[in-house]
Amino acid sequence: PGSAAGDATAVAHPNIALVKYWGKRDEQLVLPWTDSLSMTLDVFPTTTRVRLDPGAGEDTVTLDGAPLEGEPRRRVTAFLDLVRERAGSPLRAVVDTRNTVPTGAGLASSASGFAALATAADAAYGLGLDATGLSRLARRGSGSASRSVFGGFAIWHAGQPDRGGDPDLGSYAEPVPVPVAALDPALVVAVVDAGPKAVSSREAMRRTVATSPLYRPWAASSQADLAEMREALRRADLDAVGEVAERNALGMHATMLAARPAVRYLSAATLTVLDAVLELRRAGVSAWATMDAGPNVKVLCRRSEADRVAGVVREAVRGGSVHIAGPGPAARLRDADA
Ligand code: PMV
Repeated sequence: PGSAAGDATAVAHPNIALVKYWGKRDEQLVLPWTDSLSMTLDVFPTTTRVRLDPGAGEDTVTLDGAPLEGEPRRRVTAFLDLVRERAGSPLRAVVDTRNTVPTGAGLASSASGFAALATAADAAYGLGLDATGLSRLARRGSGSASRSVFGGFAIWHAGQPDRGGDPDLGSYAEPVPVPVAALDPALVVAVVDAGPKAVSSREAMRRTVATSPLYRPWAASSQADLAEMREALRRADLDAVGEVAERNALGMHATMLAARPAVRYLSAATLTVLDAVLELRRAGVSAWATMDAGPNVKVLCRRSEADRVAGVVREAVRGGSVHIAGPGPAARLRDADA
């Protein structure tokens, strides 16, 4: 559905990592140093239409109706160049993207964005990739997008750095089977600041890997976190999942705080929410926090307790907004006018 030749529309959802991706070993190919694992959300979808335009001399890219310019536009056109090279097509495209989440605020808009773009461009240019191929392709736009190709829980394999062969092939995401009904997971998303981040995740990762004395220890411990996370998910042990997710995220932020100069995404409002999460745990509620490249907090809890958690978090963020998310669907094509 959703794709006449040369015209396709795709929908993808953001994902939140429970074991983080932080740091590239190859910037060009977007190959990470570590494996990561995430939950795709059922909120904040991105819808992207890619229409080939045989008469055009350049791509037209709009986000929420406004033309994209500068670096964000360059990232999209570079991505389309990659698709064109693979498709053997010179045709430029009209790309129209609708985000339902603030862009560039550490709320995974690039993950849903490039997963939707990869899915729509694959269909419009007739590449015919399978889900693994789409995940590898989405990775080139934004690393975390490799995971949003899949619904539910997904692991993104870093791939073997030095086994010879094509390193692109080894780095892709795939679904992780999780007893979702038993785990009953929700992420309460506390948007304390919807503004764009001051430092891009790309630059922050580069600086962290190059200068932070804490980067290597975190990467090593993250590998252990991943093994523990997979086991905790298999057992549907929400507290174990949350404990590992929270320490992995705090460790990631520690690597940035130790970078030179420091990268600090966490704000006073972030810490206020973290205090509220601690209070919830003291009151016997399973609630665990994770933060990405921004001050916003995602609180992992049971779906059955999500309203209570959201109420406490709402008190803590005041002016901010709070959303409850569950596990969401894979990226998919859909009808352009649906
Ligand atoms: O996909 P990027 O390049 O925007 O990287 C984002 C990385 C984090 O969101 C901070 C962590 C993750 O694994 O999603």
